[in-house]
Formats: sequence, structure tokens, C-alpha cells
Amino acid sequence: MTETVLLVGGGGREHAIARAVDDADDAELYACASNRNPGIDALAAGVERIEETDAEAIVDYAASVGATLAVIGPEAALAAGVADALDDAGVYAFGPRAEAARIETDKTFQREFMAEHAIPGCPAFETFDDPAAAADHLRNADEDLVIKPRGLTGGKGVRVVGDQLTRAEGVDYILDGDYEEFVLEERLVGEEFTIQAFVADGSYRVTPAVQDHKRAYEGDEGPNTGGMGSYSDATFELPFMTEADYAAAVEIIDAVVEALADYKGVLYGQFMLTAEGPKVVEFNARFGDPEAMNTLPALETDFVELLAAARDGEGMPALEFADRATVCKYAVPDGYPTDPTAGARVGIDPESAGEALLFYASVDAREDGVYTTTSRSFAVVGHGETITGAEAVAEDALEQAGETGLRVRHDIGTAELLQRRIDHMDDLRDD
Ligand code: AMP
Ligand code: GLY
Repeated sequence: MTETVLLVGGGGREHAIARAVDDADDAELYACASNRNPGIDALAAGVERIEETDAEAIVDYAASVGATLAVIGPEAALAAGVADALDDAGVYAFGPRAEAARIETDKTFQREFMAEHAIPGCPAFETFDDPAAAADHLRNADEDLVIKPRGLTGGKGVRVVGDQLTRAEGVDYILDGDYEEFVLEERLVGEEFTIQAFVADGSYRVTPAVQDHKRAYEGDEGPNTGGMGSYSDATFELPFMTEADYAAAVEIIDAVVEALADYKGVLYGQFMLTAEGPKVVEFNARFGDPEAMNTLPALETDFVELLAAARDGEGMPALEFADRATVCKYAVPDGYPTDPTAGARVGIDPESAGEALLFYASVDAREDGVYTTTSRSFAVVGHGETITGAEAVAEDALEQAGETGLRVRHDIGTAELLQRRIDHMDDLRDD
């Protein structure tokens, strides 16, 4: 039967989801988001401008198009109960209900859940419901700590003492900020990587590891962003990790899926590979952005059949992936993320991206072309036998685009940066 899929969200991640639905054998796509994404527009039978958190309007739209499945992109929609509302209206949402999404949306819950269920890889932590007590704990701690506001902060709320700021600045951040509740935890040192798992009915399927780049500038300098780009290898591991490291991370996912009972959707594990193996930086309840742009185009299993099998309780099929490395690079407006300037014309479209795939994120599609806004604009994804080969394909596409008014981290996926990651892990393991 033809599945009618409603996609919630309009960023680069959702453009990748839209393409995976479009690539499926028998599916029709509808989409709703607060912005218009020209990439999704081009693939969908219908699009509607609806806030991602407006559960009622989303349910109405799902009913009006006869949706048989829904995929929820952003965490804000999960927190607002969009999956609950769709499920309750009889539309299976691939995304957890708000209660289960607390694994992402409530960092206090996340750490307490790990402790309670003895999930491996949990850093030492303390939780606080008042800033003065949190500030006192930070002042008196023996070691550098990481400050995490309890709720969602768009990836911009966490501060790593000893890396991004001094302890005194950390105390000020806690006392002078807008947040009331905090987790303070052990600072993990190592290399970060992501594994996104598809979860339904107590079982899960894992995908290749991806490494995102959070810092705004080349060489991992500057403020944290939503993610400037990411790469994956032709195998499930990354060059700085072993098969045993990957397997240890999957064991953590396994324990979480078991403890979460009736979770459905993507469980995104953000890990720090330390000298002692993988530890958990955080869990997210959705695909990563940019990581979805690495993972979904490499997925050879029919994405919609996978979702339908999850919905129908048939057991998800084993996943097949192309044996290809991928490199994703975001183009962001000048000044992003602190002082972004919008209004630059985007000189690339899916046809002129050459061998690379183009994914639109936050852009303004006008009569005379596509323009940047103040968030990440678009991403190009190159594929190749090696990471550096995929990197060259992504760079070729960016050259076509021109970069007036845009900034890219050209170092992502280069041999030099990969070697730095490998050397970093070797150093940590030698100590
Ligand atoms: P989050 O918003 O939880 O994704 O955190 C943002 C970034 O903060 C992560 O990608 C890490 O780089 C860093 N981070 C979070 N928790 C820790 C930790 N316990 N140790 C070191 N870095 C961390
Ligand atoms: N790549 C980071 C995130 O999706 O949260």
C-alpha cells in the first residue's frame, strides 16, 4: 500500500528525511514546519506552514492529508507532545512520546535514569534545583566540571569549565543566567562520536558512527553551534576508534532501550571516546542535524518500509548501508552563531551541486532566488570510498556555490584533522 508520510520540521535534517521518503518505493510525502524549505517543497505533495510545537494543528493537517505515518524531526516538537497527539489520533509517529523524550529534554532525568538503571558510561554528576547551591558546588569541586542547564537550550546552554571558561566565569554563568536548575558533571576528555539507533518495540537497529563538529571555526575554535558538519566512514567505525569501542557504545544503547521499555523513534547517543572507552555525553530523541545527512543517504534499506514495520509491530528489517564514506559541510551566514548577517544569495541548487547532495536548512526562498537567514543555510554532502575522497566531492560543490556572505569549516573531513583525532586518542590511551 502507498504510505502517506507526514514530516514535521523544515531544516537540513528534515530535508534528508524528505529525501529518504522520496527514495522509498511507495510513499507520498507531506510536510509541515514554521519555515519553508525549498528542498522539501520540491519533494512533497503538499506543505503547510505550522509551528513545530502546535500539536493540534499538526494533527489536523495529518488528518486532512490522510497520513498513515509521521516522522518528527526537531526535539521541540517531541517536548510539546506532537508524537503523543499524533499517536492518540491514530497516526503512528516515529518519535517518542513527550514522557520518553525526557531522555533528551530533561538532563536531570537523563542522568538519574542512567544511574537508576546502572547504564554503563555515565559520568559522575550532581543535580541542583537552585543556582546558589550549584554555584557553591562548582566553587568547591576538586576538578573541572561541565555545567548543564536542565532543559532544552538549542545546543547552546552547556559550558565546559577548563575548556570554554574558567571556574569563576562558570560561577557567574550559573548565578547571572536565565536557568534555575542544573546538572554539574565530570568533564569527559576524548573524541566525540554519535550513533543513531532506530528503536521500536524494545528492539533497535544501529547506524554507522558519525563525528559532528560543534565549534564554529576551523581547528575547533570559537563558540558552540548546532553543528558545522560531520563525517562517517565506509565502515561503522571512525578512524580513531576500534570495533570494540563501537561495540561498547552499542552495549550502552542496548541497556537504554531495555530500560526505556516502550520507546519508539530514533535514540541518538552522543558519546565521548575516553581512554577508558565510550562514556555518554547525552542522549537525543531524534535524528542528529547534521548527522542525519550522513546517515540517511547511505541507508539502502527502504526507509518507509522500515517505519511501517515499526508501526505494524513486524520487527524492523536489518539495515543495509552503502560502503561509502560521507562528509557533510554546512554553509552558515557570516558572523554565525554570535552575530549572523542574513540576506546573502545562495549560489547553488540541487542540480549544480555536482556529485554532492545539497540539503537546504534555514533559507528564505524568494522569487529571484534563495537567500540566507540568521541560522545555518545549507549543507553539501560528498560520498566516496574514503573520508578524504568524500571531502573533495563536498569541496567541489562548495566551489560551485561561491561563498559570498557564507562561512564553511573547510577542515572537516580533511586528512590533517582526521590525523589530529587519531593522535589525540593515541595520546590519551598511552597516558
Ligand atoms: P550537549 O548540549 O549536551 O550536546 O552538550 C554540548 C557539548 O558540550 C557536547 O557536544 C560536548 O562537546 C560538551 N559536553 C557535554 N557534556 C560533557 C562532558 N561531560 N564532558 C565534556 N564535554 C561535554
Ligand atoms: N548534531 C547535534 C544534534 O543534532 O544535536
